[in-house]
Amino acid sequence: MRKLTYFIACSIDGFIGGPDGDASFMTRFVDEEFLGFLTAEYPETLSTHGRRHFGLDDLPNKRFDTIVQGRGSYDLALKEGITSPYAHLREYVASRTLTRSPDPNVEIISADPVGRVRELKAEDSPFDIYLCGGSALAGELIDEIDELVIKTYPVVLGTGMPMFGSGFAVSQFAPESVRTFGNGVLVRTYSRKR
Ligand SMILES: NC(=O)c1ccc[n+]([C@@H]2O[C@H](COP(=O)([O-])OP(=O)(O)OC[C@H]3O[C@@H](n4cnc5c(N)ncnc54)[C@H](OP(=O)(O)O)[C@@H]3O)[C@@H](O)[C@H]2O)c1
Repeated sequence: MRKLTYFIACSIDGFIGGPDGDASFMTRFVDEEFLGFLTAEYPETLSTHGRRHFGLDDLPNKRFDTIVQGRGSYDLALKEGITSPYAHLREYVASRTLTRSPDPNVEIISADPVGRVRELKAEDSPFDIYLCGGSALAGELIDEIDELVIKTYPVVLGTGMPMFGSGFAVSQFAPESVRTFGNGVLVRTYSRKR
């Protein structure tokens, strides 16, 4: 069984964006050292557009071959006219309102994302599945998440979009590693305790 990994950026107080989800203020922390880390360890989590910008088009995937995101998160690309923001991955977008996929590389999950993710996890592949977010979809998929990779940026927001848009429930995870960067970014990895 391959893993579903929620790879997500957040503030010190655990928000993945402002109250409307805007996370654009986080990009200032992607400096040379941190970009070097992402490029070396998680190259597939950089968008196709970003990879092109940094001249990293040809980087092979290292951890993931599939991405799952909610329509709210996918919308950020769509609004820029980008229909396949992670063209180097198989892309799945959960949506009840997008009746047709805007791109041949994107499959719409119109119902039961938990069931579809279970099918994807059961596939035979050496690569794991990247859960991109956002909050609402992560909340629905919380019980399927096997690993958390949390990039914490050194800011406090006070309020904002939570990491999981779900009700109260205690899910236990075990810490696996912590990395710190010169600009104050912290990357913590946890695996689920089943
Ligand atoms: N900090 C980070 O690393 C990071 C990463 C990703 C995203 N974000 C932020 O997260 C925000 C988006 O999060 P969000 O919580 O608003 O939205 P989201 O989780 O990305 O997407 C929610 C949408 O997914 C679809 N969906 C959810 N459950 C479904 C189900 N059971 N069946 C079918 N479709 C389902 C629905 O789409 P329809 O409405 O089309 O039905 C729903 O509106 C963005 O603003 C982005 O900036 C931050």
